[in-house]
Amino acid sequence: MSACSCCRPASIGKKIVMALSGLVLAGFVLGHMSGNLLMFKGPEAINAYAAWLHANPGMLWGARVVLILSTVAHIWTGVLLTLENRAARAGGPAVEATRRATLSSRTMPYSGVVILAFLVFHLLHYTFRTVALGGQEFGDKVYEMVVAGFSQPAVAGFYIISMILLCLHLSHGISSVFQTLGLRNERWRGRLDAVATAYGWLIALGFISIPLAVLLGCIK
Ligand code: HEM
Repeated sequence: MSACSCCRPASIGKKIVMALSGLVLAGFVLGHMSGNLLMFKGPEAINAYAAWLHANPGMLWGARVVLILSTVAHIWTGVLLTLENRAARAGGPAVEATRRATLSSRTMPYSGVVILAFLVFHLLHYTFRTVALGGQEFGDKVYEMVVAGFSQPAVAGFYIISMILLCLHLSHGISSVFQTLGLRNERWRGRLDAVATAYGWLIALGFISIPLAVLLGCIK
């Protein structure tokens, strides 16, 4: 009897790469979101934080290399696993378990693509500063740049919608990490799924609070 596609050693290897790279990215968004919340402390706090980051190029580039490698590994293994799952689903009754188990995970590629599109826009917006900022120069004035960026409701709305998809992607992704690690058994499934959902919402609501505060005039 042959193993189902999700249990083959090659698939398990990819799932481990997917899980580890996903954990790095999930850790990054927590750090990034926490740093961004300095917006609520005012311009001095967040501008000093941005200036400190830029004044430490070794640390910044170290983190960037880890992030880029994790992103490439995550997308690459994600595409391969999605193709394997599709092939398995087309494979007939032997893979009924896969068909049942992955209803929620099947939306992962779609939310992943939207998050990737968001990331491209976001880097052009606040890192390269070439879109949706009206050609203004901000230097280390990140506070002023973020306020200018989110003063446009369409841009703020796009961020908010993307963060909701990020929440769903993170919640399902973290549940999958627990599954890959073999922790998601009958006894722990409910609690671990609650942790994953809470983490997704924590990240999303933390990020959303910023464009929302600008739109509502609480940050200006
Ligand atoms: C309200 C939401 C967000 C705000 C206000 C925000 C803000 C910023 C700002 C101001 C920068 C430029 C920092 C600088 O050059 O000093 C930045 C960079 C970046 N952001 Fe965000 N961000 C948000 C959401 C996200 C999310 C959800 C992700 C990931 C999915 C993300 C990933 C990144 C990355 C990868 C960079 C480039 C970091 C680097 O310079 O290497 N951001 N963000």
